[in-house]
Parts: sequence; C-alpha cells; structure tokens
Amino acid sequence: MRFSIRFSHAAVATCIASILCAGAADAQLADSTSEQSLQAFARIAEVLRHPRCMNCHPSGDFPRQGDDRHRHQMLVQRGPADRGGPAMECSTCHQTVNAAEGRVPGAPNWHLAPLTMAWEGLSDGNLCRALKDPTRNGGRNMSALVRHMTEDQLVQWAWNAGDRLSPPISQFDFHEAVRRWARTGAGCPP
Ligand code: HEC
Ligand code: HEC
Repeated sequence: MRFSIRFSHAAVATCIASILCAGAADAQLADSTSEQSLQAFARIAEVLRHPRCMNCHPSGDFPRQGDDRHRHQMLVQRGPADRGGPAMECSTCHQTVNAAEGRVPGAPNWHLAPLTMAWEGLSDGNLCRALKDPTRNGGRNMSALVRHMTEDQLVQWAWNAGDRLSPPISQFDFHEAVRRWARTGAGCPP
C-alpha cells in the first residue's frame, strides 16, 4: 500500500515534469522555427532587392536598367499589358535568350511585373507580406510561390544575365532559402 502510494506520487511528479518539459521544448522549437524563417527571408530579400529583380518590379510606368537602376533607354513604357507600347513591345528587342553577346537580356515571355507586384519602396516586412498575398501575387499559394521562385525563367535569368552582376547569393542558395522559408512557416519581419 505504502509502496503504491509512493509509486503514484513519483509517477505524478514524472508526469508533471514531462508535461512541463514537453511544453518548454515545443516553445523552443516554435522560437527556433520562426527564427529560421526570418533568417531565410532576410537572404531572400537581398535577392528581391537586387537590380536584376527590381528592374522588372518597379512601381512606375517604365522598366529600369543597370546596377544604378536608371530609366530604360528609348523611353520604353510599361504599356497597358506590361509589355510595352504598341510600337515598342518588349519582344521587339528582348528575345527568349540573351542576344548580342549578352548585351540585350532575354528569356521567354520577357515583360514587366504588373503593378500589384511592384516592390519599390516597400519595407522588408511589407515586401514579405505582398509576396504571400494572393490578391497581389497572381493568386499563388505558397507552393506555387516556391515553384515560381525556383523554376520561373525570368527569375532564373538573374543568374544568367550576360556580364551583369548576379544577385548576392548563388542560385542554389536562393532556392534553398526559399524552400527553407516555406518549410518553416514563411515568417515575415514586422
Ligand atoms: C524580365 C522581367 C522580370 C525579371 C528580371 C524578374 N521578374 Fe519577377 N516577375 C515578372 C513578371 C512579368 C511577373 C508576373 C508573372 C506572372 O504572374 O505570371 C513576376 C512575378 C514574380 C513573382 C510572383 C509575384 C509576387 O510579387 O509575389 C515573384 C516572387 C518574382 N517575380 C520574383 C522575382 C525574383 C526573385 C527575381 C530576380 C531573381 C525576378 N522576379 C526577376 C518579371 C520579372
Ligand atoms: C528598343 C529595344 C527595347 C525594347 C522595346 C525594350 N528593351 Fe529592355 N533593354 C533593351 C536593351 C538594349 C537593354 C540592355 C541595355 C544595357 O544593358 O545597356 C535592355 C535592358 C532591359 C532591362 C535591364 C536588365 C538589367 O537588370 O539591367 C530590363 C529590366 C528591360 N530591358 C526590360 C524591358 C521591358 C519590360 C520592356 C517592355 C516593357 C523592354 N525592356 C523593352 C532594349 C529594349
């Protein structure tokens, strides 16, 4: 009898301890998960902000060019469908691959990101939220967003941009950061 009472006390104590420990471990896991997610997004943001991406995601009525992000030469316009004006469509000059020894950038379906996907002037937090917002990102859920960033040819062009600077991390590391961000809950900075 005495033994069984002692035993159940011990069992209760063990049980309480394990509940507390499990709770603490869960909290720690959650913290490190969101921490990992924010770290992954910080790497992604460095790429999104790079001129190779930003030149096509402007908030104005024209594309930009070069590392100093100057206005596209010859007064090229956004146009009604983000593909230039009638006499100056993007595809008049931009082919499906880089041309003129890389001087004229090219990739399939070369055109400007629509204004809902304009990133200029957004803080990291707002850029992150815009990216995930299906009303602004072209109706993409998280797996479609990951697919876009790891497979879309306009995105991948940034690492095959003739003699222009590539984004600050490798294409492989970018893909890895995108997948890690999604896997860890796609957290956004405030
Ligand atoms: C030649 C122009 C061009 C370049 C360069 C470009 N994009 Fe885009 N981007 C677009 C267009 C056009 C769309 C819209 C495509 C659609 O919805 O089908 C888009 C859409 C996106 C989207 C989905 C919408 C959103 O805002 O969430 C992401 C993410 C994206 N681009 C990432 C990038 C990244 C990262 C780079 C650079 C590594 C890049 N893009 C470079 C033209 C470009
Ligand atoms: C008349 C020809 C012509 C037309 C039309 C044209 N482009 Fe260009 N574009 C060029 C040339 C040439 C370059 C390279 C300029 C350089 O690097 O000196 C260029 C460069 C760019 C770049 C810069 C890439 C970078 O990161 O430096 C972007 C972005 C771009 N064009 C987008 C567009 C979009 C979007 C359209 C249609 C709305 C368009 N262009 C229409 C000729 C054209």
